[in-house]
Amino acid sequence: MRIRIHRPSDPESLRASDSPLEIDREILSQGIVWGELFGTEQPVELEIGCGKGLFLTRAAAAHPEVNWFGIDHSSAHLRRAIDRALKARLSNALFSKARAEDLLGGWIPEGSLRAVHILYPDPWPKKRHHKRRLLGLERGTETMRHLSRVIQPGGWLSVATDHSGYAEVIGPVCDASPDFERSESIYSQTVLTDPEEPLTEFERKYRLEGRPRHLFTWRRR
Ligand SMILES: C[S@@+](CC[C@H](N)C(=O)[O-])C[C@H]1O[C@@H](n2cnc3c(N)ncnc32)[C@H](O)[C@@H]1O
Repeated sequence: MRIRIHRPSDPESLRASDSPLEIDREILSQGIVWGELFGTEQPVELEIGCGKGLFLTRAAAAHPEVNWFGIDHSSAHLRRAIDRALKARLSNALFSKARAEDLLGGWIPEGSLRAVHILYPDPWPKKRHHKRRLLGLERGTETMRHLSRVIQPGGWLSVATDHSGYAEVIGPVCDASPDFERSESIYSQTVLTDPEEPLTEFERKYRLEGRPRHLFTWRRR
């Protein structure tokens, strides 16, 4: 993969908007150099579909020793996440309007992530849309192959969903990857002081509707 060397003397060239926390996806597409994006060499955790950023901003505040990268393909959601991180004055959180497929498919260097979080991915409840599920029967094997490339040995993948039908598919699809093994949930030790607290904005909404939380963690072998 071709790696672009970002010039620290020109940090503005990395930015996608007038926000200091939003990275231009064109920069990402040329090969990500995490240390240069963040300006610090720390472990990196990626959240795919970070939505309005409740999880990522809270995790970044609780763990300044980790660099947190959130992506979402919805500008409206991402804007809210960035505003939240700016308000919290976080220096270890960055965002980009990007698609998971592009990042996982090549922009992220091999073994460069400590963890990937996929919290409440779109469940695509209609049968004819199941093929769009990131961790569904059609696309899940490829997604897991990409995740095993980018997550370092000993790192982890965490997934949450409120959709029981999707949860029944996510479990076996991820278990089928020879590179991952099931592990205890990491959240109670890392982010949440109260395990009953909602992890994300969507979870907060789903709780009020009485929907369940299916939470999985896999450890990269
Ligand atoms: C159901 S929402 C959950 C948002 C957030 N994780 C939460 O729990 O509050 C799913 C999010 O994933 C984003 N998304 C869906 N497919 C994506 C993709 N292929 N790449 C990046 N983001 C994606 C959507 O824009 C949306 O914000």
